[in-house]
Amino acid sequence: MTDAAFWDKIAPRYAKSRISDPDAYEKTLKRTLQHLSKGDTVIEMGCGTGSTALRLAEHVGTYVASDLSAGMIDIARAKQGADTIDLRVAGTDQAAYADLTPDAILAFNLLHLLPDLDGALNNIHAMLPPGGLFISKTPAIGEKWYFRPLLAVMQMVGKAPFARLMKVPEIDAKIADAGFELIETGMYPPNVPSRFVVARRL
Ligand SMILES: C[S@@+](CC[C@H](N)C(=O)[O-])C[C@H]1O[C@@H](n2cnc3c(N)ncnc32)[C@H](O)[C@@H]1O
Repeated sequence: MTDAAFWDKIAPRYAKSRISDPDAYEKTLKRTLQHLSKGDTVIEMGCGTGSTALRLAEHVGTYVASDLSAGMIDIARAKQGADTIDLRVAGTDQAAYADLTPDAILAFNLLHLLPDLDGALNNIHAMLPPGGLFISKTPAIGEKWYFRPLLAVMQMVGKAPFARLMKVPEIDAKIADAGFELIETGMYPPNVPSRFVVARRL
């Protein structure tokens, strides 16, 4: 099964799932908004069903939200307020965003799912002007020993997609190595390893 097919299949269930830690989610939004301005052009990659896009779009000028899964984007398009967002079925390739000069690119809960993470980070770097921001939050599932066997079993029965088992320093290093300066980092929530990074394109 391709990654897009996997996410298409689970999209209806994903849309109904609850935010696991609302306080951590609100903190992530708050910290993200601190770095965005009213006139900004923002791209959110891997937007899922658009919940975060709907929270952030009103605070910037142009908000483009994309996802590899047409199923996720269909659900996002049906939500109230979706007409304020430019929703696209797309991955991390530059070609899908050739009409845009983004001030910031966002990726929440996406980087660990990308088989070619280095390639995607290079694309993101190439799309941003110098000084542009890349803001991400990534589960550092390599921090917990039990994720490896758990993931292997779930992948074997088709219940999990490709996922990279990264620890926090590896996430930071991958972003820095792609040509970014990390200007803010955090863990929201603190006890579950999920790495928030605001990075400025060099
Ligand atoms: C765990 S969900 C996160 C959704 C949303 N960002 C959130 O935080 O709730 C991962 C999303 O990434 C999308 N995705 C997976 N691989 C992708 C890729 N290569 N390019 C863009 N989106 C991708 C999936 O379709 C899914 O909607």
